[in-house]
Amino acid sequence: FHGRTFGGMAATPQEKIQGGFRPMLAGFKFGQLNNIESFDKLVDDTVAAVFIESIQGEGGIFPAEDSFLQELRALCTERSVLLMLDEVQCGIGRSGHFFAFEKSGVKPDAIGLAKGLGAGFPIGAIWAAEPYAELFEPGSHGTTFGGNPLACAAANATLDIIEEDSLLEQIMANSSIWHAALQGLVEQYPQHVASMRGVGYMVGLALHTDSSAVTTAARDKGLLIVPAGHNTVRLLPALTATLEELAACTRILGEVFAELSA
Ligand SMILES: Cc1ncc(COP(=O)(O)O)c(C=O)c1O
Repeated sequence: FHGRTFGGMAATPQEKIQGGFRPMLAGFKFGQLNNIESFDKLVDDTVAAVFIESIQGEGGIFPAEDSFLQELRALCTERSVLLMLDEVQCGIGRSGHFFAFEKSGVKPDAIGLAKGLGAGFPIGAIWAAEPYAELFEPGSHGTTFGGNPLACAAANATLDIIEEDSLLEQIMANSSIWHAALQGLVEQYPQHVASMRGVGYMVGLALHTDSSAVTTAARDKGLLIVPAGHNTVRLLPALTATLEELAACTRILGEVFAELSA
């Protein structure tokens, strides 16, 4: 999933995204996440760039494996194709690393950023690696609110807080405890929860139960979660969430599954 701009929709081959908005931009081909052969077949000399989410969000919380990202980087370099990573949802600390791709050691040619960058204030950005940075010059592209000083100040403040409050370290430490507690729910309620996936503060619970029943019951108890992909619920706590708040999330989910079992 790459958002609802026209390019973003064209890059998201799902009826629920593209329906009602066709014709799409031409020129997109689709490989499968974590399947390097599927990209090997598609990347020929008509291809300019490969664009993927480092962790698929809307699709249901599917992380790109480190080995897949490394092989994809090698393939793109060998065939002179840009590797662009969408870190709009998984970037800015959400995975416990500043960027979700970082632990793989790859260097992408461009990174798309938004959401967490402004901590709620609307801002989006693209970060291009050195040989490509000059492709965009002032005026070559733009939006009405692009380059907004207030949004940039909000983003700067967000980056300062992530650093000064050691949020990455906190997310790493808290998430291992939280994931273990969520795994406990998978074991306790196998009739409702099939598995847990995710990294840091970006977690999906794959359900056997209808996800809207779970999101509604959780909301009624004060926990906001969203559906994703096929029968998955997405847990995306604030990057400042404490262990107590994460424990409350697990407790509420436990209550929801217990009530659904009754
Ligand atoms: C992975 C990803 N990319 C991009 C976007 C940006 O969407 P939009 O351009 O519609 O704001 C989103 C929004 O949810 C997203 O999750």
